[in-house]
Amino acid sequence: MKIIVTGGAGFIGSCFVRMALRERWAEHVINLDKLTYAGNPDNLRAIGEDARYRFAQIDICDSEAVGRLFEAESPDAIIHFAAESHVDRSIHSPAPVIQTNFNGTFTLLEAARRNRIARFVHVSTDEVYGSIEPPHEADENFPLRASSPYSASKAGSDLLALSYYTTYKLNVSVTRASNNYGPYQFPEKLIPLMISNALEDKPLPVYGDGQQIRDWLYVEDHCRAIQSVLEKGRPGEVYNVGGNRSLPNLEVVERILQATGKPESLITRVTDRPGHDRRYALTNAKLTRETGWEPKVSFEQGLLATVDWYRNNHSWVQRVKSGEYRRFYELNYANRSE
Ligand code: NAD
Ligand code: DAU
Repeated sequence: MKIIVTGGAGFIGSCFVRMALRERWAEHVINLDKLTYAGNPDNLRAIGEDARYRFAQIDICDSEAVGRLFEAESPDAIIHFAAESHVDRSIHSPAPVIQTNFNGTFTLLEAARRNRIARFVHVSTDEVYGSIEPPHEADENFPLRASSPYSASKAGSDLLALSYYTTYKLNVSVTRASNNYGPYQFPEKLIPLMISNALEDKPLPVYGDGQQIRDWLYVEDHCRAIQSVLEKGRPGEVYNVGGNRSLPNLEVVERILQATGKPESLITRVTDRPGHDRRYALTNAKLTRETGWEPKVSFEQGLLATVDWYRNNHSWVQRVKSGEYRRFYELNYANRSE
């Protein structure tokens, strides 16, 4: 199988590329990535000079370049990760989020339709269901109630992807995963931000009361789920992917302090995120029933492995925390103290 992975230089996409080559899920992997602030070639250094891998620096919104690549490579499948993935950035600056997440997905779907690509997996998020009251959890038929420009752009792109199955019979499946964590995650997201700040004895900025609930999924479990959907998922279907581990944010931060051996006094309460979803909760039952997938890495194991990785990859962290990272950190956290 020859696959094109979009966003393969980001956190989850790079994990998928490394696993696809290591576990021989594909014979050839082409990574289509624009290399935004979140795309980092260092994430793929472990691949070395593997002849089965090729990189193409392309913006998914560039229909000509995308069309040329699809035509030249004739891939068997597209695994679509590329996105502007951070909720806080989407609140400060929605335009690039809508452009990449909605229009970029449209460009890829069109190129896939024109080039008769046999399979398309669109990687999406549980955020499209919005905040969910306990004790309910979302299955794949739950209403879409996106709260942020990020989640609305993902909900829109999910519907567009599904319309390409209904209208054109393009073989599309959509996955909706919960919060991922693990090595190589850009330290703007909760877990890597808190780990890297704790390791540097910097304040840990908890939004609002810290009682918002997220379900945590180790990134390799997510990538295995996507591979299961690629192989066994049905066209036109949506599959939830959760880690079966719901925790309030404050508890996650406290566990990070324990794992890093740092004091609780580093926790700093800051003004809440506008439109902040209180709770995400989803069921994996459909994915497990149809493909046999289930999450394997416990939160305790995954968090320790992640803390170790950030501790041992100080130079990676220092490189990504310079430049653009500092600019956004200032913008997001300045004047936010409660
Ligand atoms: P990320 O921000 O780490 O990486 C995004 C990648 O996409 C980067 O390599 C970036 O360069 C690339 N990219 C961005 N805009 C592009 C464009 N216009 N053209 C080409 N490439 C572009 O994101 P991530 O956390 O790895 O998320 C990957 C996907 O998984 C996203 O679609 C996201 O919505 C989804 N998802 C993420 C999570 C999570 O917890 N991180 C959970 C569920 C779903
Ligand atoms: O649920 C899946 C989604 O998870 C993905 O679709 C997104 O791409 C991904 O970014 C993530 O979105 P969240 O907004 O849930 O993740 P984030 O890591 O930004 O925040 C997790 C929780 O922690 C959220 O309730 C906000 C809170 N938070 C976050 C940051 C960055 C803080 O309290 N302080 C912080 O500094």
